[in-house]
Amino acid sequence: MRRRVVRARAHGKVNVFLGVGEARADGFHELSTVFQAVSLHDDLAVEAVPARRVESGPHVRGVRVTGLDAQKVPTDSTNLAVRAAEAVVARYRKRHGLSWAPALFMHLHKGIPTAGGMAGGSADAAAALRATAALFSPEYPALPEEELYEIAAELGSDVPFTLMGGTAWGRGRGENLTPVLSKGRYHWVFALSREGLSTPAVFKKLDDLRYARPEAAPHLDVTAVTKALASGDPLAVAVHMHNDLEPAALQLMPRLRVAHGAAVELEALRCVVSGSGPTLAFLCRDEATAEAVAEGLLAQNLASRAVVAHGPVPGARVL
Ligand code: C5P
Repeated sequence: MRRRVVRARAHGKVNVFLGVGEARADGFHELSTVFQAVSLHDDLAVEAVPARRVESGPHVRGVRVTGLDAQKVPTDSTNLAVRAAEAVVARYRKRHGLSWAPALFMHLHKGIPTAGGMAGGSADAAAALRATAALFSPEYPALPEEELYEIAAELGSDVPFTLMGGTAWGRGRGENLTPVLSKGRYHWVFALSREGLSTPAVFKKLDDLRYARPEAAPHLDVTAVTKALASGDPLAVAVHMHNDLEPAALQLMPRLRVAHGAAVELEALRCVVSGSGPTLAFLCRDEATAEAVAEGLLAQNLASRAVVAHGPVPGARVL
């Protein structure tokens, strides 16, 4: 392999619908969720340095992070992009009996908030899967897509969707994906928080809330929201947007209620917590309204940052 750099891009997501079923024996919850990939993205560059042969131990020897929330992103082996790259290298080495592979250096430029419920870490992993696999091309045959998806699912529940992109129905942990027909372009405003929320903590809070109120049944039927997406009418989509994790996220971060409650007054169609939060997702009728909603959120001090985005957009890809 010669010295080279491969760049890849991956997008964040919003859960237009997030139904959370019972906790399973493995600790994960059974989901029925409709993901939409949105234009906020992270860019990853992976450089292979064949002059530095690695026979054993980690191949990723350096990680640099710049951009949004960069100081919050780990640069060690807990970074999902690092784990994704190592997993791909391990597959190629095993498959082709390679005694060594080059040292890798990564530069991650963040545009997706960290710990914001928008799958930023998962998107980085998806970009790393594509970029690292591309480093082995054309010398070695590409890994089958099923294998990349298999690695993705092992890395995290949202990694397969960030690899796939578009709009999709996710079941199981969220990794069992079926593409969903979505017409038109949806305009979003994401209100970002300075602090993140821990995904396991939000799921745990939901379990506690449900224990106290067993009548609060999960919402697992995506028929209405998928019909609305196929119609291309943002108002119909807004009516059927839902997030079972929302009460848990709002209890853990009560100040989110103010911005959430201001959605209609700001002229957004609807607001939901994005994934496990704390990012708030405002669906708007068009781009101009989205710009106005973002300005309103900032002017009224309802968010520290507000970003306009659209979806659906493609999955992780080499640039
Ligand atoms: O798969 P991922 O690493 O993103 O999941 C993070 C945590 O979120 C899990 O450890 C679990 O606590 C929670 N989770 C869950 N059910 C899911 C997905 C995530 O309980 N379907």
